[in-house]
Amino acid sequence: METKIAEIAEGIYRLSTYVPQIAEPAGFACNSFLIRAEQPLLFHTGLHKMFALNREAAAKLIPVESLRWIAFGHYEADECGAMNEWLASAPNAQIAHGTTGCLVSLNDMADRAPRVLADSEVIDLGGGKRVRYIDTPHTPHGWDAGVMFEESTGTLLCGDLFTQLGDNPALTTGDIVGPAIQGENLFQYSALSPGMGAAIRRLAPLKPKTLALMHGPSYQGDGAIALNALADYYEKRTGERWADLMQGKAA
Ligand SMILES: [Fe+2]
Ligand SMILES: [Fe+2]
Repeated sequence: METKIAEIAEGIYRLSTYVPQIAEPAGFACNSFLIRAEQPLLFHTGLHKMFALNREAAAKLIPVESLRWIAFGHYEADECGAMNEWLASAPNAQIAHGTTGCLVSLNDMADRAPRVLADSEVIDLGGGKRVRYIDTPHTPHGWDAGVMFEESTGTLLCGDLFTQLGDNPALTTGDIVGPAIQGENLFQYSALSPGMGAAIRRLAPLKPKTLALMHGPSYQGDGAIALNALADYYEKRTGERWADLMQGKAA
């Protein structure tokens, strides 16, 4: 395996590791995003078993020991499996995550105390980069789920939203909603909670110019249109599911 590096917005780098054995024959990629700033931030640590690869890639962009912030979409192995290795490698690094994730998992599982972020709280990374944390509970999964928005570039770090298969290019202007629906149908990874559509639609007013997918390419275009289209899809799915549940058709 190798970890490919690409700049997907000014000062924001995608570290992509493709695993052909997952979901064959298409395979599956796990992406971390490094924001280069006075206080560098890594969004997704990658798997515990991918730490050496991701560390080597990050070291081409910054001195690893200068990493200041470690953030991720939710508590799960591909999102934060290597968090303690990163904490050990960067003495000033701190995990930053939402209230739920800190209370439920990170206060116990992280080797240093995390910074608890309120919904919509901003961290000023210096050098013009600012990241806003936004709670998206149970969306697409995980009670503690959230996303981050880098305001100077208009980049939404989407976590598992829009998950798709394959070894995708770093950047695309093509459709990301259709492939996300295929990914949902294959993995069934979403909680399909009744609030899911609203949680995604709430991100559209940010008007992202780039949607940085954890599993997929980074999309350049009208992020609000893509987010609203994904919200439409999940509102239909969750509506149908709840109608079936009410009628006793679903388990
Ligand atoms: Fe996940
Ligand atoms: Fe993920």
